[in-house]
Amino acid sequence: MSEAGGLTALERQQWQREGFVVLPGFKSAQAIESLRTRAAQIVADFDPECGPDGRPSVFATHDQARLSADQAFLASAQGIHCFFEEEAFAEDGRLQQAKHLSINKIGHALHDLDPVFDAFSHGEDLAAVVRDLGVQQPQVWQSMFIFKQPAIGGEVRWHQDATFLHTTPVSVVGLWFALEDATRDNGCLWVAPGQHRSPLRERFIRQACPEPGQPLTRLEVLDATPWPSERHAVPVEVSAGTLVCLHGLLPHYSAPNRSPHSRHAYTLHVVDGTSSYATDNWLQREGGLPLRGLS
Ligand code: FE2
Repeated sequence: MSEAGGLTALERQQWQREGFVVLPGFKSAQAIESLRTRAAQIVADFDPECGPDGRPSVFATHDQARLSADQAFLASAQGIHCFFEEEAFAEDGRLQQAKHLSINKIGHALHDLDPVFDAFSHGEDLAAVVRDLGVQQPQVWQSMFIFKQPAIGGEVRWHQDATFLHTTPVSVVGLWFALEDATRDNGCLWVAPGQHRSPLRERFIRQACPEPGQPLTRLEVLDATPWPSERHAVPVEVSAGTLVCLHGLLPHYSAPNRSPHSRHAYTLHVVDGTSSYATDNWLQREGGLPLRGLS
């Protein structure tokens, strides 16, 4: 961070060269505690027996078809919904551990609908960082509180964030806040430095006219460029309070969490309003929830 807020020249160079930048100490312990406390309240208030579609929702990124069939997922674009870890349930359909240790994430409009998340997600310091990443008119489309639960925290396979929030030109930036220390043991981020210059490989889009009973979304392969090999993957082990900024084309993943420790994180995804937002992106704001910037 520069003294005037925003990025230093070195950080801007790293962003250009490697497609990510790590900003330790960006959020205070108090701000983190407020957010985690509020997330715990949302989960406590969540009744899995009474989900929007009458059944629990499972978030499993390596099985996009499962997501596609889930109406609650699309509705969460403009709401606050809890999604279970894929491994949360026993074969008989019952939770294998307490509810608060079974949730994969909360998404996707926390930053607009909840006052505590709103306060965490907006501010001049954040606006200055994103301005220095080259975003002229920031629009915050998505927020996620990610639990990465002990023992069952699921893998998020290699992906590029522009797969999910596509604009022309590509403009999405991921803002990843560590709410706990993130290590190789509890499922930290892994990135492929410099590979933000590789092509967009996939797009996750809404089906134009789904047949009844058919998936509402699908993953479209755009480019056969392979994902980076393991030897090009670098772990991003960071302390609580760190902000990691990710270019929308930078391949990244996180491994399963098999440790006894959670790895809570919060993410925002910001696009540039000067670009054109794809009308077939899975995440749309039909019906009036206004888009806001970062100030
Ligand atoms: Fe991502």
